[in-house]
Parts: sequence; structure tokens; C-alpha cells
Amino acid sequence: MQKIILDVDTGVDDALAIIYGLESKKLDFLGITTVSGNVPVEMATINTHKILQLVGRKDIKVYPGANRPLLREPHYEYHVHGSDGIGNALDTIQIEDLEETDFAADFIIEQAKKFQGELTLVMVGPLTNLALALRKEPRLVEWIKEVVVMGGLVSVAGMGNKLPNSEFNIYADAEAAKIVIHSGLELTLVSLDVTTQTFITKEDIERLKGTKYYDFVLKSTEVVREYGLVQYGVSRASLHDPLTIGYLLDRSFLKTEKHFVEIETMSELNYGQTICDFKNHWQQEANVHVTLEVNAEAFVDHFIKTLRA
Ligand code: RIB
Ligand code: CA
Repeated sequence: MQKIILDVDTGVDDALAIIYGLESKKLDFLGITTVSGNVPVEMATINTHKILQLVGRKDIKVYPGANRPLLREPHYEYHVHGSDGIGNALDTIQIEDLEETDFAADFIIEQAKKFQGELTLVMVGPLTNLALALRKEPRLVEWIKEVVVMGGLVSVAGMGNKLPNSEFNIYADAEAAKIVIHSGLELTLVSLDVTTQTFITKEDIERLKGTKYYDFVLKSTEVVREYGLVQYGVSRASLHDPLTIGYLLDRSFLKTEKHFVEIETMSELNYGQTICDFKNHWQQEANVHVTLEVNAEAFVDHFIKTLRA
């Protein structure tokens, strides 16, 4: 099984990615690291523990990380994910007496050193933890097999979800993203270009009726689906983070091309933009596998069937 560390800012789609990855039974979760993003890191950590309890995998440890971006101030997304980050769908679960665990960046370094060449990082929040780990231990670049990141927007100008050309995870900590994208790591960027084509509606959720996840998915996605109605004119929850997991489970879900990508960190209009040099104007070596096409129907069907299983 692929050894992974999943880095989350649990939020609703992060929660769905955790459930999907675990229920696939095909990924060996060495641990889950949390980061400030959609919600404060403390809340993301509590939410992650709640999801692990819902799944029945309290054996998986959670490693809290950065409580803010490297330089900028945090921007929380309560209007998308609800006041507790998971649509208040698990208020009945109380998480007390959290076990003291290592700092996320230290856990990433420790596991990458222990499993050299075997570890895949799945980053579905701002890249602060990975940037910190790279600055502390540059040899990560030799040790880590690959990194799959949910983030960015490369080929559909103006369709960003934070600024016209910026996606939230990159926008939340563009300096961290710049460190990661120039690190030399084997990087795949699962961007809004493809993730906005993958979503679930109430009709899709009804296919989960009778499973232990139906109530959670219906309730947790209420706020996100209202947001989707405003954004897309359809009551829908985008499966941004689950698609990164889906790509590990079936590489045929996505078509990728390798290009040079740069991160904008100076512009107020385009802070956090992932600029893909498709025409190679800058004559730079390609550093990112960007995602251009997705088999959305096959992926969403796999997502639902995995949660039903
Ligand atoms: O832009 C979507 C991304 O930002 C997802 O990871 C979502 O959870 C938020 O973190
Ligand atoms: Ca996320």
C-alpha cells in the first residue's frame, strides 16, 4: 500500500478526503498533519479527530502544525465551511484530552527519513507545514517520493475562489507555496481547473442513504452547497480535496502535463496566483505536473461507491 501523510485544514472537503482515503483501504496513513487554513489549526485538529472517530480509526495519530501562515495573517473560511469548519455536523462528538504529539513539520521529516523513497505527501491545505519542514531538513527532497497538492489555478483565468486568479490554499500562504514549488520535490498540482468539475449534489448524497456517512455528508455539506448555489447556480459541494486522494487511487482520473509554474507573492491583485508558463517564455525547467483534464463522472462515482462500501 502507498504510504501517505495527509496534511489538512479540516474543512468539509478535507473531512470527505479523510473518509474517502481511509474507506478505500488502499492507502497506509502514517498520520494526519493539520495546519491553519479554512479554520484555526486547533479547530482543524479537533475536526480531524472527530472524523477519525466517525470512521472508527482513532488509531491514526494527528500532528498539529503551523497556527498561521509564514508571513501573512490567517484568512479563515467560516462562510464556506460553517462556524466549526465541518458544518456543525458532528456536534455530538466531544473530543477531550488530546494526546501530545510531535509538531507536524517534525513528523513529516521523521517519517520521510524513516521511509526514504516510499512516502507520498498529500497536501490539501496551505503549504506552511511543508515549507517549514523543507527549511529545517532540505534532504526531504531526496527522501520524499512525491507530493500531491490541492491548490492553484493554471489555465482558466478569472476563475479563482479567493482572487480572480488565486485559489485559497495557495493564497493563504503564497510564500510557503513558493518555497515548495522551487524545492525540487516531485510535485503534482490538483488545481481548480479540474476540482471545480468534481462535485456532489443532494441527488449524489442520497446514494449514501443507509450508510454510516449519509447524515454527516448531508449535514456537513449544507453550508458548502449553499455557497455552491451562489457560486455556480447549483446546490453542490466541490470535491477539491477528495480528488487529490482519487488521483492516488486511480491515476487515470486526471490528465497531467509538466510545465514551469511560478507563484506570485508581490502583487495585491494576483497574490497567490499559480502562473503556468505553458509557452515556456521564461525558459525555465518544468517543476510541476499540472492537471488539465479530469474524468469527473468516473471519479465522483468512485467516491460515492467507496463511501457506500
Ligand atoms: O480552494 C479549495 C481548497 O481550500 C480546499 O482545500 C478547501 O478545503 C480549502 O482549504
Ligand atoms: Ca482543505
